[in-house]
Amino acid sequence: MNRIYADNCATTKVLPKALAAMIPFFSGEYGNPSAIHSFGLEAKKALDRARNKVAQSLGAMSSEIFFTSGGTESVNWAIYSAAELGQSKGRHIISTAVEHKAVLEFLAKLKIKGYEVTLLTPDRLGRVYPEQLAQIIRDDTILVTMMLANNVVGTTSNLKEFCRISHAKKALFHTDAVQAAGHLPLDVRALDIDMLSISSHKFHGPKGVGALFVKIPKLPKAMIEGGGQERGARSGTENVPGAVGMAVALQEAVRDNQENFTRLTKMRDRLIEMVLTVPKAELTGDPVNRLPGHASFVFEGIGHGANLVSRLNEDGICVSSGAACSASSKEGSHVLAAMGFEGQLAQNTLRVSLSRFNTLQEVELIAQRIAFWVPKIQQARR
Ligand SMILES: Cc1ncc(COP(=O)(O)O)c(C=O)c1O
Repeated sequence: MNRIYADNCATTKVLPKALAAMIPFFSGEYGNPSAIHSFGLEAKKALDRARNKVAQSLGAMSSEIFFTSGGTESVNWAIYSAAELGQSKGRHIISTAVEHKAVLEFLAKLKIKGYEVTLLTPDRLGRVYPEQLAQIIRDDTILVTMMLANNVVGTTSNLKEFCRISHAKKALFHTDAVQAAGHLPLDVRALDIDMLSISSHKFHGPKGVGALFVKIPKLPKAMIEGGGQERGARSGTENVPGAVGMAVALQEAVRDNQENFTRLTKMRDRLIEMVLTVPKAELTGDPVNRLPGHASFVFEGIGHGANLVSRLNEDGICVSSGAACSASSKEGSHVLAAMGFEGQLAQNTLRVSLSRFNTLQEVELIAQRIAFWVPKIQQARR
């Protein structure tokens, strides 16, 4: 059976060009970038080139890019750094109720240590507004952290005004751009942000590598101690093949961004149009300001999104019922709950996330199979 992969918010296929760029660093050029012999120098050069490419792709300087093990570490590190840097200013942090667990769980830990955390509540489409931030930001606010694009419902945010309000109170601004990087145009200078987190496997790079942008002259505070790699800020031997693969994948994504955006938006809108003819189907997230390949729904009366995911899997269609990290959980999505989807409805969710490798034919087949299964599951549960 030919399978269709449409779970690209969970992870993506590595671009052949990124894979090819990585291979030499597993075989012939496997040096440790800290070593001063020729193997080490080759690895160091490759790492520097990768840093340059990532920086260019984000409109940053290479001295502002720090490699990490992925989105979770980048996000944790950004918040940790802000807490350390802001010690004399205060202990108040602002975020939103729809952030990824990488943000919310780290904030929960800080709360135990005496930090005060205020979460902005979104509307039914997953949007928060600058006026909400302006109302609650204080002199002792040290950080505002908000995602650029939501992984569960696809809603994207224009962060410029949020940054302006934060800076007026001398609070740092971090964005979790894990779902946005490579899919939306990104320019850290135009956004005027202090920190930004990305993860390679969300834009056709390898897993287990990411980056944190930190605007100069600030440096992130070391969260992992050891040999002092990454200019003393992040110890541990660098993942050279990973960084090389991520840099190529990001560069390609940025180069092809306009073309992919247009094509994916068309396919996504066709899928939404077809799925909304299904009884008791509702699109979740903002219909306009959303990730180009992201379509998410709730279907009343299907019990749990996993029921539908399993049926589609029998057809060879691989989608998810929300965030990958909570796919097996019986709890509803905290994102949908925060958006006002109550009780069971917050569990009845399906997410189809497309990539440059999907076709319109696949998308139409996915929609047809959803339309086939949903009424059957609804009926069986009556
Ligand atoms: C919005 C968001 N932030 C952070 C992460 C964590 O990224 P990683 O899997 O690279 O640790 C994810 C992964 O799903 C995500 O969607």
